[in-house]
Amino acid sequence: MTLFGARQATLMLAALALTGFMYMYYHTDFIQTFEYLQSNTECACRFCMSMEGDDPWFTQRYKPSIQPLLTKKNSALTKEVYNWWQSLQYASHRANYTAVIEKLFKLFPDNAQYTDAGPDRCRTCAVVGNSGNILGSHYGNLIDSHDFVLRMNRAPTKGFEKDVGSKTTHRIIYPESAVDVDNSTHLVLFAFKTLDLQWLISAFTTKDITQTYTRVRPTIQANRDKVMVLHPAFMKYVHESWLQKHGGYPSTGFLTLALALHICDEVNVFGFGADKNGNWHHYFEAIRSNYHTGLHGGNFEYDTALQLFTKNKIQMFRGW
Ligand SMILES: *[C@@H]1O[C@H](CO)[C@@H](O)[C@H](O)[C@H]1NC(C)=O
Ligand SMILES: *[C@@H]1O[C@H](CO)[C@@H](O)[C@H](O)[C@H]1NC(C)=O
Repeated sequence: MTLFGARQATLMLAALALTGFMYMYYHTDFIQTFEYLQSNTECACRFCMSMEGDDPWFTQRYKPSIQPLLTKKNSALTKEVYNWWQSLQYASHRANYTAVIEKLFKLFPDNAQYTDAGPDRCRTCAVVGNSGNILGSHYGNLIDSHDFVLRMNRAPTKGFEKDVGSKTTHRIIYPESAVDVDNSTHLVLFAFKTLDLQWLISAFTTKDITQTYTRVRPTIQANRDKVMVLHPAFMKYVHESWLQKHGGYPSTGFLTLALALHICDEVNVFGFGADKNGNWHHYFEAIRSNYHTGLHGGNFEYDTALQLFTKNKIQMFRGW
């Protein structure tokens, strides 16, 4: 017993502990590597939009098979989608949707876009909202480093480059918010009625539609080969699946975020929500207090975006 002294016992215990620790270390590492390889069969980014073992909150809402953009082939609407979509905004007369679609795709590209998701793709997207919280953020370079930069309505970059960046790959508009875009930008129409599709056709041809529920621009500058239209069924899906029917219909901001969830692998969100003083205002406009989000379920939308952030599906850059 005296030969096997306290010193040897300590050494042996230490050796055992070290072996155990090393085993655990390599084992854990092995499991992590294995999980990583497995999850990355979905895309080539570090995290992908839909992954093996996703949270039920996410899988109950996210429908990966839905087509976000309209093509002639997928343009037929079920009665439910058509009636819901037609009820969103007032129109003095209802045109023949099928006939309008025929005209639309004689003029604009008619191919399924962004169906290239897979293990080799890592597409990063910045969704740039119009919140005043982006002012002073210096996010400009970060935003411009994304593959896609999606902006909405009249949100300018000129004069705000340091905070909002200068690159715009996709400009989301509807007739009442239309702006000119440069030749490299995709004009993405969010149509809330058949008349909006007719306006798009008119804006590139006869330029005779000047009025919806308000005056609209008869024409805009944009590359005709890069025009896209959000699918009405996608809007209904966002309203029901993501927003649980809160609000009349989804805001442009939330629809744009949802679009990004479906065409990108990694989504980073900028300029969403109120500023540090609780004001909801646009970064390019003076502060108005008591700004309401109107008929959109603003708080529910923001909470849903926060949930996506909590569940590591998006990153939210909340600014100042
Ligand atoms: C709508 O237009 C389509 C295609 O042009 C046509 O086949 C159909 O008969 C029209 N429907 C009505 C109700 O006019
Ligand atoms: C815009 O891009 C299209 C190709 O998509 C090209 O045919 C056209 O000449 C370009 N126009 C300008 C003004 O650069």
